[in-house]
Formats: sequence, structure tokens, C-alpha cells
Amino acid sequence: MAGLFEGKVVTVTGAGGAIGRAGALAFAAEGAMIALSDLNSQSVEETAHLVESQGGQVIAIAGDISLDADVQRFLDATVAKFGGIDCAFNNAGITHPDDHKWEESVFRRTLEINLISQMLCMKYQIPQMLKRGKGAICNTSSTQGLIGTMDPPLPAYTASKHAVIGLMKSTALEYANRNIRVNAICPGVTRSAMVDQVMAMSEAIRRRLENYAPMGRLCEPEEIAQGAVWLCSDKASFVTGHALVVDGGFVAQ
Ligand SMILES: NC(=O)c1ccc[n+]([C@@H]2O[C@H](COP(=O)([O-])OP(=O)(O)OC[C@H]3O[C@@H](n4cnc5c(N)ncnc54)[C@H](O)[C@@H]3O)[C@@H](O)[C@H]2O)c1
Repeated sequence: MAGLFEGKVVTVTGAGGAIGRAGALAFAAEGAMIALSDLNSQSVEETAHLVESQGGQVIAIAGDISLDADVQRFLDATVAKFGGIDCAFNNAGITHPDDHKWEESVFRRTLEINLISQMLCMKYQIPQMLKRGKGAICNTSSTQGLIGTMDPPLPAYTASKHAVIGLMKSTALEYANRNIRVNAICPGVTRSAMVDQVMAMSEAIRRRLENYAPMGRLCEPEEIAQGAVWLCSDKASFVTGHALVVDGGFVAQ
């Protein structure tokens, strides 16, 4: 396959989910060798089969992305299989149920999975990119990383996604003069298991989310994937420290 990522190694977390799977397939379509991770071993294997059926080279490792040992195991396996890491789509994440949103354990777990995981991934990815002399990272935030408007309110999720952007900017500046670009993508409401979970809270919430974007529809995971592909590609060669919004106009209101 010829494409923007020919010969490059790209890691994708949350690769069993909607956006991660679409990301894996989009990077593979551009010629990347793909390393996939997810807590859900069955869904990450399914994504790997889809990449293979598209003719891509792939490795899939199940694990908990909030645990240092699991992240290290995933990225060590990637380097052992493909010889290094060029780009990363650090995308795994969770939201939390409305009725438990002020529980300390829920708040801590949300921060561990949505934020600490990205620190752990970058801790092991960046040394590999420095060895290559170049790298690009896209971390998944959210429109909730920029604004607090959400009905029902999601305090832990919103705090975690704001922090993702702070971590991204700090890391982008630290590595700007070493040829490693770090950006974030901020999806609006995107068709996924996560959104199904929030919509299941009530019929009113479902209707509100379906009409959340001024463009009048849900975002498709493939539309987020294309943003991640662009941010990690050489077409975005002077873009770093940027939070790219893909939300059908919601944040513009
Ligand atoms: N869907 C949306 O509307 C939306 C909007 C804004 C941001 N996002 C973000 O996009 C990212 C992807 O979400 P999605 O929409 O594809 O949802 P999804 O639920 O389909 O996928 C999330 C994936 O993350 C995995 N995961 C959860 N905890 C994990 C852990 N501890 N270790 C490893 N993997 C774990 C899940 O197994 C799942 O496959 C998330 O960071 C989410 O916060 C989604």
C-alpha cells in the first residue's frame, strides 16, 4: 500500500472502540504498520483482523492503558515487531455514569484512563521517536476539553479532557525543537459505544445529543480518524501544540 504513512509505525490505543478502530483503518489505508491496544481483547483482535483484511501489517496487544507495566509491554512489543515508533494516536478513554459522577473512585479512574494513560504512553513513545529523529503524536481530548457545556454535566470527564490539552501543550513545547510534534483532537458527539451509554440515560438526553451539532447529525468515527491522520502526517509538518476541533460547529456557537 502506498500512502502518507508508507513504512511508518503507528500505535493506536482504544483500538477496539469506534474512533480507535476507524483510526487504525485510516492509518493502515495510508500504508502504516499498526500496533493496536485495548482493554477488550476481543474487540482489539477484531480491529486487527480488519486491518489485515485491508492488507495491513498489524500487532494487537490487550491491556490496561492506565497501568505503566501494560503500556510498557504494549510499546516494547511494538518495537520488537516493527523496530521503532513513528506516530501515536493515544485515544483510549471512558466516560462515567451520571449518578456516580461525584464519587472519588469514579473521578480517579476517569483521570487514570483518560489522562494518566496519555502521560504513560508518551513516556515510552517519545524516546523511540527521538531515536528516529522525528515523531508525531495525536492525543484524544474532546469538545469537553475546551468547554464545560454538557447535559448531563460530566465533571470528571470534562476535567480529564481539559487536562489532556494541558499535557499536550506542555509536551509539544518541550519537544518542539527536537522534531516531535504533539497535538490533540477534540471530537464532538461521535457514533460509538460511549455515546450509546450516555444516550441510554434518558430519551431527552438521546434527542439532545443527536441534535448537538449545528450540522444536525452525529459525527462519524471516520471523520475523527481523518483529523488524527492529518495531524500525524507530514502534511501538518508545522502544526504542534494544537487542539483540532471536529464537531460539526458545536464549539463555534
Ligand atoms: N464518542 C464521542 O462522542 C467522543 C467525543 C469526544 C471524545 N471522545 C473520546 O474519543 C476516544 C475514543 O472513544 P470512542 O468514542 O471510540 O468510544 P468507545 O467506547 O467506542 O472506545 C473507547 C475504547 O477505549 C477502551 N478502553 C477503556 N478503558 C481502557 C483501559 N483502561 N485500557 C485500555 N483501553 C481502554 C475501550 O475498551 C474502548 O474500546 C475517548 O478518549 C473518548 O473520550 C469520544
